[in-house]
Amino acid sequence: MSSLPLEPAQSCPAQGLKGEVSVPGDKSISHRSLMFGTLALGDTEIRGLLTGEDVMATAEAMRRLGAVIERDGDDFRVSGVGVGGLQEPALPLDMGNSGTSTRLILGMLATHDLTAVVFGDASLNKRPMARVTDPLSQFGARFMARLGGRLPLAVQGTADAMPVRYVSPMASAQVKSAVLLAGLNAPGETTLIEPTPTRDHTERMLRGFGASVTSEASNEGLAITLTGQPELRATPVIVPGDPSSAAFLAVAGTIVPGSALTITNVMQNEHRTGLFQSLVDMGADLALVNPREVAGETVADVQVQSSSLKGCLIPADRAPSQIDEYPILSVAAAVASGTTRMEGLEELRVKESDRLAGIIDMLGAAGVVTRSGEDWLEIDGLGGPVPGGGLVETQLDHRRAMSTLILGMVAEKGMGVDDRNCILTSFPTFVTLFNDLGADIA
Ligand code: S3P
Repeated sequence: MSSLPLEPAQSCPAQGLKGEVSVPGDKSISHRSLMFGTLALGDTEIRGLLTGEDVMATAEAMRRLGAVIERDGDDFRVSGVGVGGLQEPALPLDMGNSGTSTRLILGMLATHDLTAVVFGDASLNKRPMARVTDPLSQFGARFMARLGGRLPLAVQGTADAMPVRYVSPMASAQVKSAVLLAGLNAPGETTLIEPTPTRDHTERMLRGFGASVTSEASNEGLAITLTGQPELRATPVIVPGDPSSAAFLAVAGTIVPGSALTITNVMQNEHRTGLFQSLVDMGADLALVNPREVAGETVADVQVQSSSLKGCLIPADRAPSQIDEYPILSVAAAVASGTTRMEGLEELRVKESDRLAGIIDMLGAAGVVTRSGEDWLEIDGLGGPVPGGGLVETQLDHRRAMSTLILGMVAEKGMGVDDRNCILTSFPTFVTLFNDLGADIA
């Protein structure tokens, strides 16, 4: 999405990050609030939307599909078209860097009688789409994609959808959500079975908008069943703070000496909080205080202080609840004493970049020893600051950039990235927020 040129940044050793901060709205809920608002009848008021580039790509796509979206700061109003009411977009849909926007929107398009072309930036155009186009074809949609199911692709949605029962081969909330969104405009019941539970924002929010969605354990995994062709009603959404953005503050507050941070209003959905658990397992002084319910999700304030961390085993079954947090968790492991072993990492290979390779590259550039296989990683922590002095290629991956800049705060010679503009996709205030807390990112 970003047409900005690469802008290098350097992060130098920091002392004592202190203060109380809030993070931008959750990215997953922000995307869904715009999409469900579009598929509902009436006006959906959204408070605290993330205004990063990924979510703005979703907003622009929803406009092209017929929604009217008005903005007042971080508050948005979506006037929807209803299930079955999407218009054929006159121009190709530019999804920028956002895999979530792309895969969920393909689900919406698959069961509408229209043809659309979807494309993204150099990172998104490399990512696999067959994981959604395969199940969406079962509804009757047709896709023409580049080799390996890559973008740009054309979708011809079906006017005559069949409901689908699909057993997902991977733990992916995007695959689950694409199938459920297609099921919205198919008659009868659509069922998606996931091998391991993943973030459940789609199910929870669709219920809030008036759809019938049930979840029950089955022999094959968790079976989620949606009754098609509901009349979705506009519903106000309050977007809680993004735990994936709070993760950068939680790790920095733990590893930068002399720090004490309170991160307010952080969503505590059980499918999103693996990183906080991993930090506690490593010995972090981290507490979740003041838990409360906000618009159907629990939020809490996260208090962290600098702590000595110990390497440990991070089990595979925790992967779905911290799938975006491995780059920053690796930074914590690099300064912990002893070895940290992470398992179940196969999905990291298909994120905004190959994140397993990215972590190895980042830590290598900082003088940290790692060993890895196809889906596991071991990091030999140095029990204190790392040598640093490296420059990391971000490859349009915001989480690579942010993780490297946090690593620079505990690196004797600092750390550099070739581009900080990619951070605008998810955490536009990252650099100013950290510098206001006492970091030195230039
Ligand atoms: C997301 C699901 C995850 C995550 C992504 C957001 C979502 O992807 O990595 O950042 O909002 O559904 P997968 O479902 O592919 O694991």
